[in-house]
Amino acid sequence: DLTTLAVVAAAYLIGSLSFAVIVSRVMGLSDPRSYGSKNPGATNVLRSGSKKAAIATLLLDGAKGWLPVWLVVHWGSAWGLGDGTVAAVGMAAFLGHLFPVFFRFQGGKGVATAAGVLLGFEPLLGLATLGSWLFVALVLRYSSLAAVVAALFAPGFYVLVSGESWSWYGSPSVALAVAVMSLLLLWRHRGNISRLIAGQESKIGSKK
Ligand code: G3P
Repeated sequence: DLTTLAVVAAAYLIGSLSFAVIVSRVMGLSDPRSYGSKNPGATNVLRSGSKKAAIATLLLDGAKGWLPVWLVVHWGSAWGLGDGTVAAVGMAAFLGHLFPVFFRFQGGKGVATAAGVLLGFEPLLGLATLGSWLFVALVLRYSSLAAVVAALFAPGFYVLVSGESWSWYGSPSVALAVAVMSLLLLWRHRGNISRLIAGQESKIGSKK
């Protein structure tokens, strides 16, 4: 119906805000699409040398996934919105980041936004997935490998968390959204995966 359509469209528009580009512009840094991996994401913004800009990008790209989902989870039932809309809103924000209408559909890889969406679906699911990301990132120092591992683990965490008393979040639509986000994350990292295999991937904090 119309409410669902409006909420999903709004989530896609918010997701389309490429904060790597916006934050860099506001802070007077070069466009992240012009250096490093050319990816508009927090990892690449860190290659500019500005930790502040990278953290701002990470938090804002995460928040734009979390906020629309959280709003529908908490207020949706008052508007007659169910778990299908929760899932659709999460996917819409994520797809906005990958294919942003404001940036000629050339977006990022979706790691921070997916983390935000998962946190919105269920904090425990988001935290477990973030934990797996953080573990690989701290131990092996590759942001992309951490994302690949987290994408592989997220559906497993979903199954574990939704097996508990998880009310209506454990729904086929939310499960599908988690699976599709994971597959798209892996696909968006195909270049990184080749570089990892070739031993040419840059480590976190390295300028190249
Ligand atoms: O957030 C994307 C990250 O996993 C890899 O980024 O710039 O190294 O391709 P990048």
